[in-house]
Amino acid sequence: MIPANVIEDIRTRNDVEDVISSYVTLKRAGKNLKGLCPFHSEKTPSFVVYGDTQSFYCFGCGAGGDVISFIMRQENLDYVSAIDFLAKRAGITLPDFDSKTEKAGTSRARVLQMNVEAAKFYRNMLFDDKIGANARKYLINKRELTSAVVKTFGIGYAPAGYRSLRDHLKGLGYSYEEMADASLCAKNERGYYDYFRDRVIFPIIDVSGNVVGFGGRAMTDDVKPKYLNSTDSPAFKKTKNLFALNFAKNYSADLMVVCEGYMDAIAIHSAGIKCAVATLGTALTSDHARIIKKYTDHVVLSYDSDEPGQKATERALRSLSEVGIDAKILAIDGGVKDPDEYIKKYGVERFKRLLENSKPKFDFFLDSIKKKYDLSNTDEKIKASSDVCGYIASIYSKVERDVYVAKTAEFLNVDRKSVETDVDNIIRRFRKNEKKKSSGELIRSTSGLSDRVNPDFAKDPYEARLEEDILGMILTYPELLTRKTDGKELSAEDFKTTLGNRLFTFIKDNSGESGFSISLLSSVFSPEEVSRAVKMQIRRREVTNNESTFDEYVKALRRQNDIQKSEESLEDLIAKKKRNKIKYIDGE
Ligand code: UTP
Ligand code: MN
Repeated sequence: MIPANVIEDIRTRNDVEDVISSYVTLKRAGKNLKGLCPFHSEKTPSFVVYGDTQSFYCFGCGAGGDVISFIMRQENLDYVSAIDFLAKRAGITLPDFDSKTEKAGTSRARVLQMNVEAAKFYRNMLFDDKIGANARKYLINKRELTSAVVKTFGIGYAPAGYRSLRDHLKGLGYSYEEMADASLCAKNERGYYDYFRDRVIFPIIDVSGNVVGFGGRAMTDDVKPKYLNSTDSPAFKKTKNLFALNFAKNYSADLMVVCEGYMDAIAIHSAGIKCAVATLGTALTSDHARIIKKYTDHVVLSYDSDEPGQKATERALRSLSEVGIDAKILAIDGGVKDPDEYIKKYGVERFKRLLENSKPKFDFFLDSIKKKYDLSNTDEKIKASSDVCGYIASIYSKVERDVYVAKTAEFLNVDRKSVETDVDNIIRRFRKNEKKKSSGELIRSTSGLSDRVNPDFAKDPYEARLEEDILGMILTYPELLTRKTDGKELSAEDFKTTLGNRLFTFIKDNSGESGFSISLLSSVFSPEEVSRAVKMQIRRREVTNNESTFDEYVKALRRQNDIQKSEESLEDLIAKKKRNKIKYIDGE
């Protein structure tokens, strides 16, 4: 366990406003700061940073916490690594604490070390005369990579054996369990074995230069799957990482090219276009979009020309526009599937021309409509129009909508005014449904029906709410912990919901002279539970007359609990009576 004073030191030297400002654009709103939430997609800011309590809370998605939980979420780190990260940021040297006792499983730092060793091993195997011969032939002859590119990307080869990497890492002092946590080994009933076998290996490197994971391609078509990727590990999350971003980040200010595959990104880089990245066998997520947004406002999507590629393009467009990225689409033609094949067949110059001719998304959308409908047929034209109007209605910006309305009128050869009316009608319908939906959600959440964080909420919503309000007050004013209400301090027995009870016990046990710091919560509670605690605190922070309100709430909670107890004992009494009666009858 990291000592509380060390955590407090790290916390005070990493001001929550400073730290979060380096990730999120924040504007002052009264004594707080406000901005767009980095943890969900939104267009109006509902993410608030509270300097006075050194916490943050998003009124949109409910994410909340302190500077440590912010870094855990934002950098995808566990508790100990987040503390390490912030210590480094503040220039604090951490005392040596045993990270093994801190939590089960392997730390991110350890996984990263292992990955570096694995990457070296794979590279050495590729350049081993005998072992790597076939893989070198595949990369150089079949995939037409130069050896310079192979080296730049750190490409390697995982030998065919089941124990090659395993035994190598074991020799370096890593345990099999650790290798499995890093997704370098897998386990079956016969034991641990290499996860990647007989594949060429592409290391996935993050923007700080860490090897976070690997992709492995089979060298023949009969081996399935064609690509095998690291599973998520303490260092890797495939919905957050982008291949080649470590190179592309420095060349992307004007434009980033996003494609589907490892080989596509590599081919585009080899063509001298250094701003290409690839997703790793997943669609482009909102996490990806937010990461891309750190480097650029302009993206060209260069996905496969097949149907899945087109679907993926549409999805990617949505994620990108959510974060305000203006994306264009590069259409691969000429009877080939992807950028890699295109460059091989038609050369770099022609690919550059395709890139220059990338179309804005709306033009691309109209192209797809043209392919889908026969516009000379009246019925089909009406359907097409309704598709297009629906699409325009989903766009947030009025200016953008106006531009598209004009284009559509021309495209369908109809009156501009009628397109506009149709779009407006759809928008009105959207809004009505939204309102219905959100009031439904409100009812559900206040009645606790969908409460996963505090599952007991639904059973006794009144008591649960009282508990949360009381905890919120304690978190804001820790001196209330020792306040006597009707001659008695609050105790764990007063809390009936599991979450309330756990929180109270933890706060009580971990409050020192300087009070309690919510930073400690992250060591034991889940991010969702920490968020809830911050929510409790925020809800109560406006209350000024705390002592009497506190007394009132505590009394109400105890009264409720007494009533419940007496109801229980009444039931007991009746049950006993029934039993006695039966005995009596039996005895007769
Ligand atoms: P593709 O099937 O389009 O392959 O998958 P590709 O990129 O053209 O690969 P080559 O040219 O045949 O080598 C696109 C991406 O989807 C992921 C990989 O990230 C791949 O680069 N993928 C594909 C997987 O994760 N698993 C698979 O089995 C196939
Ligand atoms: Mn390909």
